[in-house]
Amino acid sequence: MRRGEKDNPIKSNYLEECDIPLEKFRIEPFTMVVFGGAGDLSQRKLLPTIYHLFVEGELPKDFSLIGFGLTEMSDGKYRDLIKEGVKKYRGEEFNDKKWKEFQKHLYYLSSPFEKDNNYKKLREKIKKIGIPVSKGNIEIIYYMAVPPKATPIIVERLKNHGMCKEIFNTKIIVEKPFGWDRKSAVELNNILLGAFEENQIFRIDHYLAKETVQNILFFRFSNSIFEPIWNSRNIDNVQITAVESIGVGHRGKYYEQAGVVRDMVQNHILQLVALVAMEVPVGLEADYIRDEKAKIFHSIRKMNEGHIDNFTVRGQYGSGSIDGKKAIGYREEKDVDENSNTPTFIAAKLFIDNWRWAKVPFYIRTGKRLSKKITEICIQFKQPPLRLFGRTCEPLEPNVLILSIQPKERISLKFGVKYPKEYNKIYPVYMDFSYQDEFKMKPHPPYERLLIDSMKGDLTLFIRQDSIKAMWEIVDPITGRWESNPPKDFPNYRAGTWGPEESSLLMQKEGRKWITR
Ligand code: BG6
Repeated sequence: MRRGEKDNPIKSNYLEECDIPLEKFRIEPFTMVVFGGAGDLSQRKLLPTIYHLFVEGELPKDFSLIGFGLTEMSDGKYRDLIKEGVKKYRGEEFNDKKWKEFQKHLYYLSSPFEKDNNYKKLREKIKKIGIPVSKGNIEIIYYMAVPPKATPIIVERLKNHGMCKEIFNTKIIVEKPFGWDRKSAVELNNILLGAFEENQIFRIDHYLAKETVQNILFFRFSNSIFEPIWNSRNIDNVQITAVESIGVGHRGKYYEQAGVVRDMVQNHILQLVALVAMEVPVGLEADYIRDEKAKIFHSIRKMNEGHIDNFTVRGQYGSGSIDGKKAIGYREEKDVDENSNTPTFIAAKLFIDNWRWAKVPFYIRTGKRLSKKITEICIQFKQPPLRLFGRTCEPLEPNVLILSIQPKERISLKFGVKYPKEYNKIYPVYMDFSYQDEFKMKPHPPYERLLIDSMKGDLTLFIRQDSIKAMWEIVDPITGRWESNPPKDFPNYRAGTWGPEESSLLMQKEGRKWITR
């Protein structure tokens, strides 16, 4: 008999779900090897975040971190370099005493990634400073903070030196991009899987660690009032907007090859689509959730050329102004070709061909140098079957549920009320919940959560290889069509606007409009 059944047999069903086992993940003492340990990502984000976790007491007493990189330097110089990064990016919590304790955990090894011999040195260094855990194993996390080309080289060397599955307990953390198309992603997966098991591979999508993104599943599956109407019978369309006011900055070289589809759609946007659209998972274990997401990626209709020409809009920003400041056009950015045809904006209509979502369009739009930074999911409900109130020829304002991911972390429900004193006028209002107001907290950087989860070995927020492949299958036709059919009107939107005119027309021709709060 389960806990509580005896006391209250009627409630046994509910209590069954309450019988939650204790948290099974914990952080074992570990050694993290950061490839690219002296690079930009390590200095700006990774190491300052690890310092923060240390200050917060999240890390075990025994851990060590080895930076592995090209630049020649001693452990001492490496510690100074990271100190600068921590002061610059986590200045508010820099504390001399804490730093002195933290720096004792840092080491450095300089080597070109391809130099075979130095992996022997790495192996020895790990053995010397690596901390054995209870089972006698050494827990190792490899973090690939390197350009994509370097990952296969490093993995191959680690494999040759028996450093993947053999002598240590290992995990590998890989940053996007996971390939440039389906073919290269499969090749990369094969290289990774030739050296590691799938459950040792942590492919990062930082969107999944945002509090409000995780909340999508909590909101959907812990409230009984929304799930029954979460389907094509009640929902008219779903809109996902992830726009930014920043340009490509110093990443021109990468962005020239990536463009908006590879940079944002193949990963973040499709992950948001999956969280909104997926079925209830069998349980909360990583693979149950990842199974449901994979089904959505397989159900998203692959677009043919006609669909792409009619239902996608591409754009590239020209100069303009944002918040009163002048902004240069994409073609004037550093490391960008002056005749570049790389798209910096996309709007598109997707369909999910399954029972829940048949015929419900999912509109997506994302881009750089737009009027402001907003990530929002809008679920627009269908109109009532018959209009009784406010009879005019204008359509009624629809009910909309807005899940705001950033900068506001909020959920709003829009509905109509009677306008005071008016006999027959409907007025749209919002019911709001805000994370900041309710919990008096600041948004926390997603890297913290991802690092902790990878240290614990919890794969829930990381992308599985089958999803990576399926996501490329959705976007490859778009990049292929766009690349073989170059745009004639780039740049076609001014910095500081909402993108090209065609983006609004895409909605207008279907009798809809983009919703923003
Ligand atoms: C990254 C993209 O993955 O996500 C960037 O490479 C983009 O181009 C960034 O700016 C957006 O992330 P966020 O968390 O600021 O919305």
